[in-house]
Amino acid sequence: MLFAEPAADPLAGRRVLVLISGSIAAVKLPGLVSALVQRGALVRCVLTPSAARLVSAVALASLSRHPCYLDEDQWSHQAARPLHIELAEWAEVVLLAPLSASSLGRWLHGLADTLLASTLLATEAPVLAAPAMNSAMWQAEPVRHNWQALHRLERVLPLPPASGLLACDRLGDGRMAAPGMLLLALESLLTWGWRRDWQGRRLLVTAGPTREPLDPARCLTNPSTGRMGVLLAQAARLRGAEVELVHGPLSLDRDWLEGLHCRSITTAAELEQALAVLQPQASAIAMAAAVADHRRTAPLLDKLSKRELESQLSTGWQAVPDLLAALVERRAPGQAILGFAAFSGDGLAEAQRKLQRKGCDLLFANPIDRPGVGFGAAANEGWLLAADGRQWRLEPSGKLAVAHRLLTALGDVLSPQDQAARE
Ligand code: CTP
Repeated sequence: MLFAEPAADPLAGRRVLVLISGSIAAVKLPGLVSALVQRGALVRCVLTPSAARLVSAVALASLSRHPCYLDEDQWSHQAARPLHIELAEWAEVVLLAPLSASSLGRWLHGLADTLLASTLLATEAPVLAAPAMNSAMWQAEPVRHNWQALHRLERVLPLPPASGLLACDRLGDGRMAAPGMLLLALESLLTWGWRRDWQGRRLLVTAGPTREPLDPARCLTNPSTGRMGVLLAQAARLRGAEVELVHGPLSLDRDWLEGLHCRSITTAAELEQALAVLQPQASAIAMAAAVADHRRTAPLLDKLSKRELESQLSTGWQAVPDLLAALVERRAPGQAILGFAAFSGDGLAEAQRKLQRKGCDLLFANPIDRPGVGFGAAANEGWLLAADGRQWRLEPSGKLAVAHRLLTALGDVLSPQDQAARE
């Protein structure tokens, strides 16, 4: 059997300009630069004078395999062109992290008094902006004002800070987005862009496996890691949606959960209860969870011996109800629903039947028996089927790119309703 080429890392070969301003979160940047280089990105770093007091330019030069630039490098009689123009034009994408209150203010007011500030004004590349500061500074009215204004700039993806313990010993908002989240947002900027077409919509996503206990020591589950569903949730958040994520036990980078409203479940029954509560508020639902097919009719409270196990494997089980079909049945008019179908072999005909059986608007059928795609893999591929008979082949690509493709299709299902609501 012939397989398509495995998908390349979306960051490989991309020119990433890292602009670092003065917040203590700057100490996380050497690790992030190293991660970018390991994924094949080409990296250049710029430090403001305050950032240079917090993090070593020598470390950044070493890790990025390139000189790291400071204010004193901006003008040189040996350079044919000013450094801020060279860097601004070299960049394919800009990572502005951490973004301090003063660098945000300079940018919004068009000031160009540091190498970082002038490079930011000169670049035409998209910018991922990740602020970090003390929580009172973050709440200060001028900063709020600048942060809101940033959302109106073209080509900017603003990534709000997270909540937690800050270096000033306060608990609150102001921590720079986690490194794993920054890498994800950067990938999103490169694959989708900065447009917030899901603003004002609420997406409910389910992800990961369910786990149905057999006895206190064993369960029925599957190899789902939750990666596809969680990336779908993050892609929607980055496109402006309010996202609720209901997830089973996950095996992935916990940084990817940042900024999502999460509910964790273990069994299909818990998932069913969560859906009953959350369905009415959702504009759209993506049912990426790998729900177990069977569960015990009555839970076993004592651990079975190996001998008892054999007999219990074939008796005492009942089918789990079809949660997706139930969602379709009780949905309000206008709610869009995307289902998933994992298949092995040639699953297209069965996926078409499944779409009809379940009654959802879209079904993404993806293979789980091919190298580099499926459960836990970085990439995915498959067929996207629509209830009106249209179908699209999705070639192997990173799961975040697949997530964006699915969101665009789900958004298209919603668009006529949005239009009608506006009229
Ligand atoms: N699903 C669900 N409830 C179940 C089983 C599946 O809501 N009890 C959802 C999944 O989240 C997914 C879709 O239905 O979005 C298809 O899942 P799949 O396991 O392929 O479907 P099944 O109905 O279990 O069909 P099969 O007999 O092929 O396993």
